[in-house]
Amino acid sequence: MPLETTANIWHNGQLIPWEKAQIHVMSHVVHYGSSVFEGIRCYAQDNGAGVFRLSEHMQRLIHSAKIYRMPLPYSHEQLNDAVVELIEANGVTPCYIRPIAFRGYGEIGVNPLKSPVEVYIANFPWGKYVAGNSGADVCISSWNRLAPNTMPSLAKAGANYMNSQLIRMEADVNGYVEGIALDTNGYLSEGSGENLFLVRNGALYTTPLANSVLNGITRDSILVLARQLGIPVIEQALPRELLYICDEAFFTGTAAEVTHLRSVDRILVGDGNMGPITSALHKAFFDIVSGAAPDKYNWLTPVKVRETVTA
Ligand SMILES: Cc1ncc(COP(=O)(O)O)c(C=O)c1O
Repeated sequence: MPLETTANIWHNGQLIPWEKAQIHVMSHVVHYGSSVFEGIRCYAQDNGAGVFRLSEHMQRLIHSAKIYRMPLPYSHEQLNDAVVELIEANGVTPCYIRPIAFRGYGEIGVNPLKSPVEVYIANFPWGKYVAGNSGADVCISSWNRLAPNTMPSLAKAGANYMNSQLIRMEADVNGYVEGIALDTNGYLSEGSGENLFLVRNGALYTTPLANSVLNGITRDSILVLARQLGIPVIEQALPRELLYICDEAFFTGTAAEVTHLRSVDRILVGDGNMGPITSALHKAFFDIVSGAAPDKYNWLTPVKVRETVTA
């Protein structure tokens, strides 16, 4: 997807022009993948725009940095405020927000501790991520997700996305829109950039954090909404073949939002259409982010926007 630029990028406390946000080729991150980042959406509502679960995303960034012993020189509140300041300065909604912290130009060698930590935040328009309004045709990847105690799955680290890239490229060259990886024990884990849900006999299932998944914020939102709707929720290790015989399946993620799966390995999921439980959760999610339903969980941080573009 081509990148659409905006005017400013937030760098270490200041807004700088988009084209000035550059790093040296000898920065630690370029060689050793030492970055942690976030992906956040800002949705347009009738009376303005709101950033979805901003504080939870920034908390996850802080936790990702903590796992990698990367001191962030900004507080949780300063990072939240920086996002609002940036969106208001750029005047672009709806948009996707990309905060990133990494080890910059300092020393060469694997040990990152003496390379400075740089923090940037960008925002830009970004539309639908997983193709297929009528449902996504996906495959089980031949690549496994990260093994426990190798690359920590709970850190949203740039290096983890080398694994995601393998999953996504394999799916792409084989004619699927996305791949689902198993964990190293052969249980379902997640997509290259999405958490996985399935529905069977009226209950909603998702894979637990111990199956090498990211603790997705959309995943958490769907669990909250499912409980509100009285749908039984079960977090447990799930065998691959359950995807072939479940009634409904869908991905969640900031980029993918709620995307139903039409087929897995060319086997139709249910009748291939979005099923009733996925539809109810999809509606509940989009009602909140679009402002059609009250924001009863305080998930939206308002931003004052001068101008709106359609992503
Ligand atoms: C590997 C992976 N799993 C799951 C998700 C979904 O997480 P979230 O809902 O917080 O965007 C993402 C996206 O950030 C991801 O990259």
